[in-house]
Amino acid sequence: MVLSLSGLLAAALVTSAAAFDFEAACSGIATQVASISNTTVFHTDIVSAGTNLTFPDQDPTCSASRFSQVVLVDMCRVTLNVSTSSSSGIFMETWLPRNWTGRFLSTGNGGLGGCIQFEDMAYATALGFATVGANNGHNGTGGTLLNNPEVLADFVYRSIHTNVVVGKEITDAFYGSPHNTSYYLGCSTGGRQGWKMVQDFPEDFDGVVAGSPAINFNNVINYASRFHNILGNASSPTFITSDKWLGLIHNNILEQCDTIDGVTDGIIEDPNLCDYKPEELICEPGTSDTSNCLTAEQAGAVRAVFSPMYDTQGQLMFPRQQPGSENAAILNVSYGTNIFAFAPDWYHYAIFDPSLDLNTLNLTDFVFAENLDPFNISTFKGDLSAFQNRGSKVITYHGQADMIISSTDTELYYQHVAQTMGLPPSEIDKFMRFFRISGMSHCSLANGPGAWEIGQTLAGVGNNVTSETLDPERNVLTAIVRWVEEGVAPETILGTKLVNDTPQLGVEFSRRHCRYPFRNVYNGTGDSTLPDSWSCQ
Ligand SMILES: *[C@@H]1O[C@H](CO)[C@@H](O)[C@H](O)[C@H]1NC(C)=O
Ligand SMILES: *[C@@H]1O[C@H](CO)[C@@H](O)[C@H](O)[C@H]1NC(C)=O
Ligand SMILES: *[C@@H]1O[C@H](CO)[C@@H](O)[C@H](O)[C@H]1NC(C)=O
Ligand SMILES: *[C@@H]1O[C@H](CO)[C@@H](O)[C@H](O)[C@H]1NC(C)=O
Ligand SMILES: *[C@@H]1O[C@H](CO)[C@@H](O)[C@H](O)[C@H]1NC(C)=O
Ligand SMILES: *[C@@H]1O[C@H](CO)[C@@H](O)[C@H](O)[C@H]1NC(C)=O
Ligand SMILES: *[C@@H]1O[C@H](CO)[C@@H](O)[C@H](O)[C@H]1NC(C)=O
Ligand SMILES: *[C@@H]1O[C@H](CO)[C@@H](O)[C@H](O)[C@H]1NC(C)=O
Ligand SMILES: *[C@@H]1O[C@H](CO)[C@@H](O)[C@H](O)[C@H]1NC(C)=O
Ligand SMILES: *[C@@H]1O[C@H](CO)[C@@H](O)[C@H](O)[C@H]1NC(C)=O
Ligand SMILES: *[C@@H]1O[C@H](CO)[C@@H](O)[C@H](O)[C@H]1NC(C)=O
Ligand SMILES: *[C@@H]1O[C@H](CO)[C@@H](O)[C@H](O)[C@H]1NC(C)=O
Repeated sequence: MVLSLSGLLAAALVTSAAAFDFEAACSGIATQVASISNTTVFHTDIVSAGTNLTFPDQDPTCSASRFSQVVLVDMCRVTLNVSTSSSSGIFMETWLPRNWTGRFLSTGNGGLGGCIQFEDMAYATALGFATVGANNGHNGTGGTLLNNPEVLADFVYRSIHTNVVVGKEITDAFYGSPHNTSYYLGCSTGGRQGWKMVQDFPEDFDGVVAGSPAINFNNVINYASRFHNILGNASSPTFITSDKWLGLIHNNILEQCDTIDGVTDGIIEDPNLCDYKPEELICEPGTSDTSNCLTAEQAGAVRAVFSPMYDTQGQLMFPRQQPGSENAAILNVSYGTNIFAFAPDWYHYAIFDPSLDLNTLNLTDFVFAENLDPFNISTFKGDLSAFQNRGSKVITYHGQADMIISSTDTELYYQHVAQTMGLPPSEIDKFMRFFRISGMSHCSLANGPGAWEIGQTLAGVGNNVTSETLDPERNVLTAIVRWVEEGVAPETILGTKLVNDTPQLGVEFSRRHCRYPFRNVYNGTGDSTLPDSWSCQ
């Protein structure tokens, strides 16, 4: 791991070793934290750069990669819990780097979890942020605990807000001087958490990076759960095998839509322009070998998968699944065989009760969930004036091949903000910028064909923190720092595609991604793997 911080970050290193006794600060921090209300400190340890930290208490359901994390810089690690009510509380970690930049950062969570994202904490700490992460009010990927309203409130907004309030106190006490700026970095549920803070806790952050956000949350779950209704299981006439999705249907989608952008590269640059017609695949009458075609019922089911969801009054609940995401969707939303992974716990513990038969879910239930909107988890408030007025900035990005949450959902939110606040894009640009990332799947899952590495996490820098990967032209985290601290807003984000998504194999190509409502357009003659052959129009 090469560690040479960019000029931008190194310039802000103000805490000189002479003035600040890191070891003494770490041994004294427990006493200082004890005076913060509602906290119990478990551990305070100095951890040296290169240490492979293990987390034996991590909930067994958390993903295997979250049981250990290599720490990239020297830091003081503080673990504690904070009660949020008489029947709820968060567990949190605070990582305080020796080389502090005066910046504070909160990380977020994913899915219905429950699991601290240590990889994000290691990334931010390596960049000199005092960094916090919390367990979202419950441990593990499951949401069974969400049947306690206080725990649900933590999940919706209070875990992040609490870890920010407490984390800032710990940071200021540790370094003996107040932090200068405050940031947030998260994706998916983490993206929703970031937007929730922008909407309802505008004082918490000067800069927010909210990726692939699960906003319009109730309908994110409703929409993905409906695939099971549409496709059924292996014994249903509408069922389609994963082989057919991955081969036949995905290839047919690329045949119909990959060339719309002028380049045949497996990337549908703007899926909004793709009006996919699965009926092209209906078997010729009398065909006996149906391995390369679909029945009329199956074609109807595919059309339904790529259709928006409307309520009983005809109001849009959620935009359509984006064509081009289906190969990744097979892995992640399991078209057909099982219901969407987050549906059981969400409907059983947050909306209905465990007796609900998920196979009978229908539109009435989806509308009920949307209207219940526990603790306003929809996270779709259009008035961001408090955040705007204090001068804070937000970068949001969304993959154009996101198989879990269509990026059109974020377009709808952008339009909702514009209409609610009565602002044109030129004014929204002053505090909120939305980048549509072609060929990115979900967050930093390495299964999108596009230039999806944009510094969104350690994986988004190819696990290589260098001055090159930290360049704010290509890194959303250093871009938000530059915007907040120097007033230079990102016009585009340069994405990187590594060969086989493997850092050791080097770069395959790069492409600049445009901010909404601009669209990335190929110039028709240049090498399409070069960023300069494209422009934002
Ligand atoms: C860190 O330790 C864990 C648990 O022992 C191990 O699985 C993992 O491979 C180690 N990581 C590295 C980079 O050595
Ligand atoms: C959650 O996990 C943390 C450590 O990861 C542990 O200290 C805490 O007791 C756990 N909470 C519950 C309710 O199991
Ligand atoms: C401590 O937690 C209780 C709820 O358990 C809450 O009422 C109180 O406001 C909290 N105190 C502080 C200082 O946050
Ligand atoms: C925090 O930890 C203490 C000590 O283990 C425990 O008594 C308390 O219940 C925990 N509080 C919460 C909110 O988890
Ligand atoms: C702290 O930052 C300085 C300046 O960038 C660097 O020279 C030094 O190696 C860093 N120390 C550690 C332990 O990371
Ligand atoms: C915070 O910013 C002020 C003004 O630029 C600077 O003097 C101070 O050293 C900074 N503090 C830290 C901890 O970086
Ligand atoms: C498949 O779906 C049918 C109809 O809903 C149901 O009766 C059957 O039990 C399901 N089979 C499996 C294996 O889930
Ligand atoms: C999505 O699929 C990838 C590849 O199989 C897997 O690593 C990842 O955990 C899955 N994520 C979810 C949310 O299902
Ligand atoms: C959903 O199912 C319930 C009960 O089976 C039924 O009353 C309701 O009309 C159904 N809603 C729709 C939109 O089909
Ligand atoms: C949800 O939002 C509405 C409208 O902004 C507000 O009136 C209500 O108090 C909120 N409810 C909760 C539980 O935060
Ligand atoms: C990290 O980047 C540096 C400089 O760009 C390069 O020399 C090195 O090979 C990269 N390391 C890995 C593991 O990709
Ligand atoms: C397209 O971009 C390339 C650079 O990649 C440039 O050399 C070429 O002149 C451009 N062509 C047009 C028609 O703009």
